[in-house]
Amino acid sequence: MTALIGPDTTDPRSAADRQHRPIASALPQGLVSLLDHEQHAHTLLPEAVWAYFNGGAADETTLRANAQAWQTLELLPRVLRPLAGGHTRVQLLGRTLAHPILVAPMAHQGLAHPHGEHATALAAAALGAGLVVSTQASKRLEDVAHSYLPDADRGPLWFQLYIQPDRGLTCELVQRAEAAGYEALVLTVDAPVQGARDRERRAGFVLPAQVSAANLTSMPVPTQALLQPGQSALFDGLLAHAPTWDDVAWLRSITHLPVLLKGITHPADAVEAVRCGAAGIIASNHGGRTLDTIPATARLLPRVVQVVQGDVPVLVDGGIRRGTDVLKAMALGASAVLVGRPILHGLTNAGATGVAHVIRLLRDELEMAMALTGCRTLADAHLTLA
Ligand SMILES: Cc1cc2nc3c(=O)[nH]c(=O)nc-3n(C[C@H](O)[C@H](O)[C@H](O)COP(=O)(O)O)c2cc1C
Repeated sequence: MTALIGPDTTDPRSAADRQHRPIASALPQGLVSLLDHEQHAHTLLPEAVWAYFNGGAADETTLRANAQAWQTLELLPRVLRPLAGGHTRVQLLGRTLAHPILVAPMAHQGLAHPHGEHATALAAAALGAGLVVSTQASKRLEDVAHSYLPDADRGPLWFQLYIQPDRGLTCELVQRAEAAGYEALVLTVDAPVQGARDRERRAGFVLPAQVSAANLTSMPVPTQALLQPGQSALFDGLLAHAPTWDDVAWLRSITHLPVLLKGITHPADAVEAVRCGAAGIIASNHGGRTLDTIPATARLLPRVVQVVQGDVPVLVDGGIRRGTDVLKAMALGASAVLVGRPILHGLTNAGATGVAHVIRLLRDELEMAMALTGCRTLADAHLTLA
């Protein structure tokens, strides 16, 4: 990581200086947990950006439930079990990963740091974390791949896809991701529209001019002018070309990459995903940002794992803030976890250094939790739940 750490001569609080920050800066003192990163990031970000990053849908019931559910699950340690030679390695889609932590796809990372997804990619690669790059990334997907792929310690590189109303544009995105070296597609299926993001709207969040979805420059803007009187802007406008299960089959037919489905919560959809040839499932409620009052993912995960019966890997995200949360997810049958907002907090606090620190903290805490519960490997995780 030392190669990522450069001199930090800027004042991160000043909006002008924020635009000229180095890709990796010194870590502020006293940050020893993901919660510390969150609190520090809050002091640095404009309130509207904070609302966009940290807010959820409507009353934020699901947002709160996600974190609480992991905390509420109790661990029951086993003692005096042999621990020598222990490790955090897992198998995922035919690869051995150093640990089961991936960076979740998150839009517009340029809001956290001018180097955005590049800084995240450098840090994730150096720390052996998988990286899922959003369709709405603020940097070109080819350039992010270039920041990530050369690192020998890297994990898997996946591209998160929102199927676009224009299937030709969707096809182009897929071809670009394939050509750039992405190893799987993550089709997000739980957000045909945005949720009611009240906190964001109260704060008046709008994307600033210097941040945009760099990979969607040719996207046509849906226009209400085409609607007939009495038609719904949602159902007859935005959703007229919303993806369906048929599009999963279509997507599989146009790519040689494995396709994972992100945003599965209902067990019946998990079964359908396997039937449609999904290579994996990400049990996710979008971090509580889409539909409020969906159960916490810690509660959804066991049901999804049960119906999938090991046919494909099941990953999970939402509210994972501690190594113990990762261990509990693995104990409930997850193959790996994705982490969202804490990455943005680390990125805000110190660029690549901050993201690396967040991943390092989580992995160190996971190792500690394994040792203290008597798990030599993550295959033992199921022994640890109370
Ligand atoms: C600011 C922000 C932007 C996001 N953008 C996307 C996105 O572009 N595509 C997507 O599939 N999920 C997106 N997500 C959801 C994350 O991938 C992930 O499901 C969620 O953040 C996990 O919860 P956590 O933040 O509590 O870890 C976004 C989340 C946040 C916080």
